[in-house]
Amino acid sequence: MDDSNYIEPPAVLPEIEEATRRLEFDMGSDYQTGVLLRTLAASKPGGRFLELGTGTGLATAWILDGMDQDSRLITVDIDPACLEVAKRHLGKDGRVDFRQGDGADEMNALQGSRFDLIFADAWAGKFWDFRKAVDLLNKGGIYVIDDLLPAPPWPPDHAPKVDALLERVQSHPALTSFRLSWSTGLVVAVKG
Ligand SMILES: C[S@@+](CC[C@H](N)C(=O)[O-])C[C@H]1O[C@@H](n2cnc3c(N)ncnc32)[C@H](O)[C@@H]1O
Repeated sequence: MDDSNYIEPPAVLPEIEEATRRLEFDMGSDYQTGVLLRTLAASKPGGRFLELGTGTGLATAWILDGMDQDSRLITVDIDPACLEVAKRHLGKDGRVDFRQGDGADEMNALQGSRFDLIFADAWAGKFWDFRKAVDLLNKGGIYVIDDLLPAPPWPPDHAPKVDALLERVQSHPALTSFRLSWSTGLVVAVKG
């Protein structure tokens, strides 16, 4: 099986990539993470989705591409410049609600809401307040994190943080999960 060159990206992606380069934003999700998120989004018709860390909207575009018309996505970022790019290219899609602010505050505000998939791509909901994110999942809801394989910009104290996070996911009593040494290193967990 050749998995190197089969992925058809969302039509809007090239223009977001161009704007992302212009912004010199280099933390965007890659095609493998994108195609995984799109596939998972398609598994939840009428689903409720949450992305923590919109960036410039790269993963947002993939998630939207997998969602049906009844699904809804809330995506949160603290950085208005990033959000502006995402909104410019995806803002016409009525299924997505862009929120500017701190992911941890947003999770607090969302207590009482439940989601079918959470992509935690900021420290909030991942290294911080991981349990809060899991609490926001429906039964059968999916929790996804990436950037777990060692990468050159990691500061020396980052690897132990990742190990601790992996352990937290593994030992959470409500989660069944697997690790994927693919793309930037992913964990996919399902809440039982
Ligand atoms: C890895 S990038 C997200 C990439 C994006 N999901 C994508 O697919 O391209 C992390 C993002 O988290 C945002 N961020 C950092 N701290 C945050 C916080 N406390 N709350 C919400 N977003 C935050 C950054 O501005 C950055 O855009």
